[in-house]
Amino acid sequence: MIEADIHEIDIVKAEKTKIHDVDFDNINFGRIFTDHMFLCDFIDGKWQQPQIMPYQAMSIDPSARVFHYGQAVFEGMKAYKDNNGEVFLFRPEDNHSRINKSSARMAIPEFPKEYFMNGLLTLLNLDKEWVKPGVGNSLYIRPFAIATDSAIAAAPSSNYRFMIICSPAKAYYTGKVRVLIAEKYSRSADGGVGFAKAAGNYGAQFYPTSLAQAKGFQQIIWTDANSHEYLEEAGTMNIFFRINDKLITAPTSDRILDGITRKSVIQLAEDNNIDMEVRRIKVEEIKEAARNGSLKEIFGTGTAAVISPVSAFEHAGTTYEIPDLDDSYAAMFKKQLLNIQHNLSEDKHGWRYPV
Ligand code: COI
Repeated sequence: MIEADIHEIDIVKAEKTKIHDVDFDNINFGRIFTDHMFLCDFIDGKWQQPQIMPYQAMSIDPSARVFHYGQAVFEGMKAYKDNNGEVFLFRPEDNHSRINKSSARMAIPEFPKEYFMNGLLTLLNLDKEWVKPGVGNSLYIRPFAIATDSAIAAAPSSNYRFMIICSPAKAYYTGKVRVLIAEKYSRSADGGVGFAKAAGNYGAQFYPTSLAQAKGFQQIIWTDANSHEYLEEAGTMNIFFRINDKLITAPTSDRILDGITRKSVIQLAEDNNIDMEVRRIKVEEIKEAARNGSLKEIFGTGTAAVISPVSAFEHAGTTYEIPDLDDSYAAMFKKQLLNIQHNLSEDKHGWRYPV
């Protein structure tokens, strides 16, 4: 664990906490933010003095490149509190290396690891009260970087702002999700930015997802842009398919996010001696498996979504319902993952990170 050296960060504490105004039993994802935020500007070719200040609106010039060209990346991570009041992160160094990969692709300067970890730990120590104990509660953490140059030429910015904001969270999806398999729209392409957590990857999904939502689906499972024959990932989750007792997920690529929950589930599958295949998977294979009864489960994995079972999918106008299972892998992985995250079970892979 890296000690948070608060002397390295300029800190202005909030005069008064907002926590007493929050109804923690009725939390909508991502609408309420904690008392403080972390901020660090990149100016004159270097990251400047990191700061923590009361959460507040900020003023950015209307010409800032982030508004015009979407030069922005983000991360999603969570903090958990155990029954003794200890707070833990889950594999935070992986989030750091991933945001730097995303940044490199979007021509944003990498953010130094010690600034990231110190910022995170100091912020969480200040806002610890906002992490509520109990499985199902967490504090969602959103690091992000934006291009702040006041200039609208279509070129990378010289100035950037790196920030971390935090929001108390419960379940992202309540209950099972129904998904539509993409036939027309695409999320990403070879050589593109699909592997990155680039803001535009998400914004570009809103329109096709809203069409799917109007038909009663919460998410789209994206297929490859070339043929629409292969299953890739869902809008906010990587996706796993269980055929009989075998689990299959698509390999990461230029087009698919290297999800931290995804790789944790692949490891848990190995720990549980489950036959796990990381390979391309055809829409037709899943449809055939649904028809012959060997498709047992589909579930998504993600930081916000945790593990979300899929109850049905639609493709080419046909809907395939997936019956409930008693021995669901999704339920088992979710329990094992949450137990590790909340310090309720052994952490044999060293994923928990004390705050
Ligand atoms: C996450 O799981 O952190 C995500 O990035 C999903 C988010 C877009 C809500």
